Amino acid sequence: MSYKNIDVQPVSGALGAEISGADLNADLDNETFDDIHQAFLDHQVIFFRDQDLSPEKHTAFGRRFGSLNVHPYVKGMADHPEVMEIIKEPEDKVNFGGGWHSDMSFLEEPALGSILHSIEVPSFGGDTLFASQYKAYEALSDGMKEMLDGMVAIHTAEREYGQGGNSAMKRSSMDIDNANDDVPKFEHPVVRTHPETGRKALYVNMAFTMYFKNMTRRESRPLLNFLFDHCTQEQFTCRFRWTPGAVAFWDNRAVQHFALNDYHGQRRHMRRVTINGDRPH
Ligand code: SIN
Repeated sequence: MSYKNIDVQPVSGALGAEISGADLNADLDNETFDDIHQAFLDHQVIFFRDQDLSPEKHTAFGRRFGSLNVHPYVKGMADHPEVMEIIKEPEDKVNFGGGWHSDMSFLEEPALGSILHSIEVPSFGGDTLFASQYKAYEALSDGMKEMLDGMVAIHTAEREYGQGGNSAMKRSSMDIDNANDDVPKFEHPVVRTHPETGRKALYVNMAFTMYFKNMTRRESRPLLNFLFDHCTQEQFTCRFRWTPGAVAFWDNRAVQHFALNDYHGQRRHMRRVTINGDRPH
């Protein structure tokens, strides 16, 4: 792929590319924006270094790709509700996003993409891992692909944000509400077709996918467990080492990610803007 205004260096054989030659703080001309958009589709997660992004510029960049999400459970910044502060203080035990997931798959119209900007990073650790769900789908046997192609799964935030869920009380540095008892459930295809690239991607994740439509949780568990293991194998992944001012922009329609929690006693502070997507098909 050739790009007119930016340099794009892949970071692994599976997905991910580091971009140079773009200042996200400036008003991007259409040609540079088109390059970035194309690199995002080509590599599923793109990385930038040394970006001095204010919340205004961060949201303005996100809005070029679509409307922005206000998280139903995690409070955003007072003046910028679409900007989530992801903070782990030195004394916190649990981090946010510390398990494989695709952002907001518990919504009827899950997120298109997420743009994460680092404000303060630990001296070591706190990397984010990404896994290509195109590669995960493509590596399956024809028989498995055929079976999964017709299946639907139920996604909900109940385990992460429901009463007694994983979230609120454990992450004291973030303002996270528990959902009511009636956390909504939505049906999504197990294999989705990317609306822009036309490629097929696996679309189940450990955090929010509970069971298959027309099956019990017990019946669903063996196949779900296989898929959860399968879709995050090392050969489908890349890993990003954060530096202050770095930005990662990932495509939740084709990628899962995992925030590593290996920097106890140190502070990590990020800001995330999440772009709304459409209903998976
Ligand atoms: C997330 O959005 O899941 C958090 C990712 C990270 O903090 O690295």
